[in-house]
Parts: sequence; C-alpha cells; structure tokens
Amino acid sequence: MTAPIDVTALRADFPALDNKVNGRPLIYLDNAATTQTPRVVVEAEVDASYNRRANVHRGVHSLSQEATAAMEATRRRVKEFIGADSTDEIIFTRGTTEAINLVASSYGSLLKAGDEVILTTMEHHSNIVPWQLLQQRSGIVIKVVPIDADGSLDLDEYRRLFSERTRLVSVCHVSNVLGTVNPITEMAAEAHRHGALICVDGAQAVSHLKVDVKALGADFYAFSSHKMYGPAGVGILYGRRELLEAMPPYQGGGEMIGHVSFQGSTWADLPYKFEAGTPDYIGAAALASAIDYMEAVGMDNIAAYEHALLDYAMEQMRTIDGIRFFGTAPGKAAVISFLLGSAHHYDTGILLDQLGVAVRTGHHCAQPLMEAYGIEGTVRASFALYNTREEIDIFIAALRRVAAMLS
Ligand code: ALA
Repeated sequence: MTAPIDVTALRADFPALDNKVNGRPLIYLDNAATTQTPRVVVEAEVDASYNRRANVHRGVHSLSQEATAAMEATRRRVKEFIGADSTDEIIFTRGTTEAINLVASSYGSLLKAGDEVILTTMEHHSNIVPWQLLQQRSGIVIKVVPIDADGSLDLDEYRRLFSERTRLVSVCHVSNVLGTVNPITEMAAEAHRHGALICVDGAQAVSHLKVDVKALGADFYAFSSHKMYGPAGVGILYGRRELLEAMPPYQGGGEMIGHVSFQGSTWADLPYKFEAGTPDYIGAAALASAIDYMEAVGMDNIAAYEHALLDYAMEQMRTIDGIRFFGTAPGKAAVISFLLGSAHHYDTGILLDQLGVAVRTGHHCAQPLMEAYGIEGTVRASFALYNTREEIDIFIAALRRVAAMLS
C-alpha cells in the first residue's frame, strides 16, 4: 500500500525550488545529476560545522569524539537503509565513482590476466573506465551485455557471456540515461551460479526505490549522497564483509593503518582500512538527515509518486511531432531521454533553460550507449519527489515552443 505525497508541503522544505531562472520560476528536472537538498539536511550541515567541526577518529577531546559519533551514526543509518549486516560493510567514499574505483582497484588487484569482467552497454563511464584501467594494468578481459530496442538488457546474451574465467559483473541498478531498472536479483543469481560476484552502481536507484542489498544479492553496492537529497562529495560503498576483508586497501594514509613502520605496515579493521585521509565528516553526518527525510516520506510512496509523474509526462510528450525516446523499458524509473526531430540536444537544452526548465543534455557520461543508438547525445528530464504535474505542464508547453522554434 502506498500513501499519497503532500507535494506542496514537501516543496516548502526545498528553498532552491523557489528560485527564478531567466526571470521564470525554476522547473528543476535534472535530478539524475543532482537533487536539491531539504532544509533539514542543510541545517544538519550547519549544525555539524558550528558544533562538531573536529577531525574524526583522531582525537580524545570531546569535539572530535562528537564528530566521530555523528559520522558513525550515519554509518549505522546507511546500514539500516540498505539492509546490510554490519557497519563494517559500509565504507564512506567521495561518491559512486570513487566507490567503483575502489572495487576495481582493490578487488581488481586480486584478478589475473584473462579473468573476465562483464559490463553492460548502458553503463556510466564511472563503471567502464575503472575496469579499463584495470585491464591496462592486469590484462583482464571486459565483456559487454547488449541492450534491446526499448533499453532493456539482453538477458539471454548476458547468460551466454559467462565462462569459467568470469569473476565479476558490474552493472547499474538504474540507467542514468534510459531509466531502465535492471533485474539485479536475477543477474546476481546468475553471476553467483558461475562463481562470480556482482557489483551494482546504485547511484540512480537509492532515491527512487527501496534498496535491500541482501535481497538483491549484491556483493558490492555503490551510491552517492548528492543524488539522494544529501550533501555533495559523500558516497557509500557497501561490500560483503568477507570480500572486504580479503581485499587490500585502496589508498594509504593516516588512519587506515594498524601499525606503521619502515619495515612494513599493517591495516586497520573494517571499515577504516578503506578510509584513508580525513573524510567529509560534515557531509557524512548530514547524510543521515537525507535518509531520514526520504524514509519519512516513504520509499514506496516516492516510487509510486514518481511513476505517476513519469506516466503523465510521457503521455503528453508522445503527442509532440517527431519526438524520439531513448529508453522505454517496462517499469522504468522517472528518467526521460529524448530528441526533438533533428534538433541538436544542446539547442533544445539552451532554449528550455531560457524558459526556466533545467534539463541535462549531452552524452550523460555514457558514450558507448550513445554509440549503440547512433547518436551523440540526448535531452534528459529526470524527476524527484518534489516535482509536480503543474511543472510537467510548464515543461511540456516549453517543449512545444522549442520544437516549433527548432523545426
Ligand atoms: N551521473 C550523473 C548524471 O547522469 C552526473 O547526470
């Protein structure tokens, strides 16, 4: 059962939505890039800055201990939010990109030349390039799952790509371009049947649907705070404990050690082994407020609300002459990639901005996917829990004007 969202009340929590752009009310439809933050998150950041600004895990003095406690409280909150077994499995990073680089670098160092990693055509560059860097270092082989016309993964081909050398699958939970929600549970089961692991890029999933890493069967799961109403510069890597224990540190530094000497060093226990350097403890502390905020609204309620917005927008967009959609898989998340006839995506984006509508244009850091469609880029509108039907009406009216101008 889902409950309706009181979007008018929620919008009052997001001062950024009151901004004007080019003299018009801002219609913010670039949520797949970054969501706006509610007051409670900003207040948590201000509170941590004023009252708990001291280095974490490093001081006996009270301020440092309070800063540490706040960061560790978020670690517990994240653990509950994604259904992990232990806070030892929750590693703070700078974002999804760093989390995937950590896996590719650290777990990747255990792979040998000829070992295989399966990726998909719809991956963001941050889930391609780290594996290519590993390929250059160690000679691993990268295999790629193709997509069907609607932007679903070709699962028959996925099954055929496994061999006795397959070690890992790394796949997005939700595509940042197509909105496709990949069947992670099924894909994980297949990977595990072949003795391989699965790493999931959850950047586009965590703010849109309920994520339970154990129900999904994810061995690693990465996501970013700034796409879930939290501060920028903070991310999370979940990893199963026994995997993290067997992996070497990703970076070396002050507090990730057990003991350091010039004869050799030992590493700290989990999760600190993977947290070299002073983290963004202010942002990390405030991430807990973003999770509280989403859970107070309810993940199922958010998903239902955003799907209704998506259906409403798609219904109207389909009536625009010459519009082409990229990604129409059933059950997709609220991300719409499109082109208006032969108009350049950039021109469409600029004109929409003039009318107050913020969308993303370009290749969306997914050039191999653009290549698969034979295009350079798209225009992308992506929704969040605070978008409204009225905003979609304004967006569609703007789109019609732009289409007329560019035809
Ligand atoms: N990965 C983000 C996006 O898709 C930046 O826009």
